Amino acid sequence: MTSLTYKPMPHIEVIPAVADQEPILANLLELYAHDFSEFYDIEASAEGKFGYKDLSFYWRESDRHPFLLKVDSKLAGFALVKRGQDFWGDETVWDMAEFFVVRRYRRRGIGMVAAHELWRRFPGMWQVRVMESNHAAHQFWQRAIAAFTGQRIHSTCVENSGGSWRVFTFESRSVS
Ligand SMILES: CC(C)(COP(=O)(O)OP(=O)(O)OC[C@H]1O[C@@H](n2cnc3c(N)ncnc32)[C@H](O)[C@@H]1OP(=O)(O)O)[C@@H](O)C(=O)NCCC(=O)NCCS
Repeated sequence: MTSLTYKPMPHIEVIPAVADQEPILANLLELYAHDFSEFYDIEASAEGKFGYKDLSFYWRESDRHPFLLKVDSKLAGFALVKRGQDFWGDETVWDMAEFFVVRRYRRRGIGMVAAHELWRRFPGMWQVRVMESNHAAHQFWQRAIAAFTGQRIHSTCVENSGGSWRVFTFESRSVS
């Protein structure tokens, strides 16, 4: 007789991070930067830290929104959302500045659910930038944006001193 194991859907939460949680974000940003160091030219400092200089702005500026991602109450990642986009100087567009799912929770649909939740929270035009060298994220954003909009994906390649980027543009019409 075959036995089927029933796996309940995990409970995924996208929680605004309060100022006291800045150190948690800073810790997760270290893991994020370490992942990026595989395909982007960043070095850890002599103290063994990558650092993220703009983090405190997320609790000082009203157009910046920091989030923690939880899965069944366990810390599973973070997202930093801000208004205004660096490449073209568009002040109104929403920008997924940073987005991270810890390795243990990857390829379970957590990133997709969290990204959709954020896009619903902030209706309007969105841009998502991804380094061309970040192949996994490139695949992820294509899938996540296509599933969200149900439309053809629009993206542009942008070159700057930091390298080659793919910029996805779409509109979120939803309000949660
Ligand atoms: C990119 C990232 C956020 C994806 O999170 P995730 O929770 O694993 O993604 P999901 O499970 O929701 O993936 C949804 C779909 O995206 C695609 N995808 C996700 N990760 C992928 C990978 N490593 N390779 C290829 N496709 C991938 C797949 O189509 C996947 O569906 P499937 O698993 O049914 O095939 C995560 O890998 C991560 O945090 N990476 C490091 C940080 C980073 O690069 N952030 C993005 C910065 S632009």
